[in-house]
Order: sequence, then structure tokens, then C-alpha cells
Amino acid sequence: MEDISVAAAPNTSYFTPAQVPPAGTALEPQPNGNIIPQLFQPLQIRGLRLQNRILLSPMVTQSAAQDGKVTPYHRLVEYVHSQNQKVGIQLNHTGRKGSTVALWLRAHAISTKVVGGWPDELLAPSAIPYAPGDPVPAELDESGIERIRRAWANAAARAVKAGVDTIEIHGVHGYLLHQFCSPVTNKRTDKYGGSFENRIRLAIEVVDAVRKVMPEDMPLFYRVSATDWLEEVVPDEPSWCSEDTVKLAEVLADHGVDVYDVSSAGIEPRQKIVLTEPAYQSRFAVAVKEKMGDKLLVASVGGIKDGHIAQGVLQKGIDLILVGRQFLREHQTVWAFAEQLGIAVKLPNQVDWVFAGRGSQGNKGAKERLGFEVLLHVVALVGNNIFGQAYQDIGGKRPEYLYPEVVILTPQ
Ligand SMILES: Cc1cc2nc3c(=O)[nH]c(=O)nc-3n(C[C@H](O)[C@H](O)[C@H](O)COP(=O)(O)O)c2cc1C
Repeated sequence: MEDISVAAAPNTSYFTPAQVPPAGTALEPQPNGNIIPQLFQPLQIRGLRLQNRILLSPMVTQSAAQDGKVTPYHRLVEYVHSQNQKVGIQLNHTGRKGSTVALWLRAHAISTKVVGGWPDELLAPSAIPYAPGDPVPAELDESGIERIRRAWANAAARAVKAGVDTIEIHGVHGYLLHQFCSPVTNKRTDKYGGSFENRIRLAIEVVDAVRKVMPEDMPLFYRVSATDWLEEVVPDEPSWCSEDTVKLAEVLADHGVDVYDVSSAGIEPRQKIVLTEPAYQSRFAVAVKEKMGDKLLVASVGGIKDGHIAQGVLQKGIDLILVGRQFLREHQTVWAFAEQLGIAVKLPNQVDWVFAGRGSQGNKGAKERLGFEVLLHVVALVGNNIFGQAYQDIGGKRPEYLYPEVVILTPQ
């Protein structure tokens, strides 16, 4: 009789099988001899090794606790790591876009005090409401800015303590850092307003503050809005545009940002988004990549729904992609992308043998699908909720000022 044992996942407080290599890794060599496309080639970012170029995009779950304790984060991180996967956290400050009702209730409706909102306490670079009739935010003074800088650093330090693999700074979608960068929302006359250099000052300071509390080998992501989409709507008014995004990339790379995650929009309601191709924001990412070359990893997000679109984006020079809504539709997205590209990937052990056979080293590229969701994705998405809970108090008086979302990296 042979002793056949199951290796346990390391550093885990309960038993779960070790997943080596991690799910989502392309089999090498491929069973059918296919060449592995870039989408399924690993990527090393400082000390973080990704087994493919597909990341789950951060998606707010409108869930939060009151206390900011780190414990629930530890548990989620432990689970993701037990699956030999990576997990990151996105930290943001909503600025003038805070105190809104849950997304599914109504589009951009203000949350009143009666239901727990804080419409009278919104903060922004300038006292300009998001939309006509919205509450007018207070212009942040120097001490408010200092408090927010510290809050970012504290949030990042707690995320590091919780064991995340990476941090993403939310500088996008019309939230606070984007509000400072864009001349649409920043009319200040001090050192944080006016020139491009002044408007990006807070973004740089936040990057510096966060980078300082991160381990040297942990990568830092920065998500940027490539354009306000106002250039054609109000051509005579200054707004943030693709050229600014490229200029900011050059500066942030020098301040320790490793991955520039290029999205767009969100600064104010007059924006007009023009969809010209499936991966509708990829051209902005390409503009950055063309300028930055090897000096900065560039990610693209938006409209990437299948493996061919994803691989097409990488072929334009982009280093990695993030996927949002498609992951919500189909939790086996990485597996599906692989199949669409004719690639066999490792699945979690408990699933793999169903297709590849017992005792096998990996998936043989079977086309059949299980009729249930792959466990890891379910947990990863639920995990987004859990992550959303613990850091809620970091923004100062009103916890919701600065709350995290999650980037789950390279889910299988
Ligand atoms: C429900 C939902 C919540 C989102 N929350 C966030 C968020 O918290 N932070 C962020 O940067 N982007 C957020 N986004 C934007 C996504 O990360 C992504 O950039 C966008 O959906 C476009 O990618 P997709 O076409 O693959 O969905 C959210 C999107 C959705 C659908």
C-alpha cells in the first residue's frame, strides 16, 4: 500500500490543500503545443509574482463596519493566500462625491443626515458641488489636507499589517485626488491649485506617504482618470485630458508608483464618454505606455469581456488588464479567457482532476465546464465585502471619507 498524502497550504490556520502552481497558471508546455500568449505569461512586480496578466478590478460593495479593526482583513487575506492567490486593496477618499445613497437605489442621489449621510460635511479642493443643487463642499484648508495625508498613510499601514500583497491609490472617477488634479474642480490659488504642478501636488504627497509605509518589495498601483471627457462638451473650459495623464505618469513613476491603472471619467455630469472600441479606455493606456516604455507598468480596464479583447490590449504594449463586470457575470473568467485563446490553465486541485484526471499535473484543456461557480471567485468577491469593512474610520471624523475597495489580483 502506498502512502498518498495531500500537501497542506502553508501558513494557514486550517487545512486546505496547497495549490501549486496557483490556479490560473498556463500549463507549460501546453498539451496541444500552443504558444502561451502574453495574457497568460507571468509578471513580476517588485516582490509580487502574478501568474497571468488578469486582475479583478476593484468594485465597491457598499459594505463597511464602524471600527476599523484589522482582524477581518487578516482572515480574508489568509484565505486568498491559502489558495496561493494574491490580494490587494484600493484606498480612496470621495471628496465632494461622498454622502450619496447606495448605487442601486438611485443615480447620484444625496444621502441625507436622517439616513446616515453627511451632506453638510463634504470636503473638496474648492467649494463647487458635483452637480447643480448638490450640497456645496467645504474647501479643504492646510490642516485638513495634512489630516487626509496622514489618514492615507494610516490606512496603508493597516492594509500592510493585514497582509495584502499590493495597494492601489484611487486617483480616479472624480474622487478627491482626481478633484485636486482636474482644473474643473480645483480653483484654488494656493500651492495646491493653479498650475499642473500645483494641482497634482496632493496626489504626489499621498503617493509618498503611502509608499513610505509600504515594504520595499510591495508594488504600488495608482488608478487615474485619463480624461474628464469634457474636451468636446466644453472646449473653452480647462479640463483633465490624456496629455495630463501622461505627464502625471512620468512624475508618479519617479515617486514609486509601479503600475498605472488607466480608467477615465467621473469628474462631473456634463461628461460625454465616447465608446470607439470594445476596450474603450485602452488608447489612453497606450498613450502612457508609448511615453513611459519600461519605466512604468501600465494597466488597462474597461470593456474587456473576452480573452481575445484582453490579448489584443496587451498586443498594443499594455502590461496587464483589469476586468470588472465580466467577473460579476462569470466568476470563471480567467478560465474562460484561457479557453477562448486555446490555452489550458491550472484549475484548483479540487476541480482540476474532474477534467484532467486524477493524479494529473494539470488541466488537459478540456472544453467542458462545471455547472457551478469556482469557489475561489465566489470567496474573492465576497471578500470584497469583508475588505470594505475594516478601514472605515480612517478618514477622520466621518469614516466614509476614506474607505477601501479591493483589487483581487490574478484570481484563477
Ligand atoms: C459595481 C461596480 C463597482 C465599482 N466600484 C469601483 C471602485 O470602487 N473603484 C474603482 O476604481 N472602480 C470601480 N468600478 C469600476 C470598475 O473597477 C471598472 O473600472 C469598470 O467597471 C470598467 O471595467 P469593466 O468594463 O471590465 O467592468 C466599479 C464598477 C462596478 C460595475
